Amino acid sequence: MQIFVEKDYNAVSEKASEIILNCIRENPRIVLGLATGSTPEKTYKLIAQNYKKNKLSFKEVKTFNLDEYLGLENSHKQSYHSFMKKNLFNKIDINIKNTFFPTEFISPGKYEQQIKDNGGIDLQILGIGRNGHIGFNEPYSSFKSKTRKVSLTKTTIKDNSRFFTNRKEVPVMAVTMGINTIMQAKKIILLASGKNKQKAVLNLITNKISNKNPASILWTHKNVIFLIDKACIKK
Ligand code: F6R
Repeated sequence: MQIFVEKDYNAVSEKASEIILNCIRENPRIVLGLATGSTPEKTYKLIAQNYKKNKLSFKEVKTFNLDEYLGLENSHKQSYHSFMKKNLFNKIDINIKNTFFPTEFISPGKYEQQIKDNGGIDLQILGIGRNGHIGFNEPYSSFKSKTRKVSLTKTTIKDNSRFFTNRKEVPVMAVTMGINTIMQAKKIILLASGKNKQKAVLNLITNKISNKNPASILWTHKNVIFLIDKACIKK
């Protein structure tokens, strides 16, 4: 476990993009696990800017997104498909056929099989919910969980509602990689930034491993980096 405390959100994003780009340089056929949400936005922006400048190719890269809402068309502005296209896929030379989302593999074990058939996830990028969720594995999710349909908690629905003009449109269900699925990744980076993640990060750093706090399981992973900023830990 390595913990890096960076100055601010920009520094977290710089460091995250450097780590990801270095991994792609080392292995152009890398399999990435990707998160959406506001935290990795700048990281993706920096990766896209690097592509424009240096043309590091993503043609052989494969990606598996952590989660996707149920009940939204892939083309909906707030779907994670749209998020990924807007923030990354449309800005690099990735083959869209090499990008996978769990909603396309809902039957039990299908997403895990697809990941396995592609060699497993080399590098998983994670954000963290205010309640400690990773992917949409909300508190009390089993550490053994695999990809499945889940109901979102009130906190998560409330947090996500900022992206929707009509509250009724905010999805209440999603498909997420399970905690066990995430833990199979060879390397994991968890990004967190800002005061509103303080409680989640302090719980993660100081509390014991418990499924009340899904992210806490990451302490048992052999190759994980927590990349956080000062605002996450400053009282
Ligand atoms: C998104 C995801 C979620 C987010 C988390 C933090 O794919 O899996 O677990 O990482 O909700 O979201 P932000 O970054 O918007 O605070």
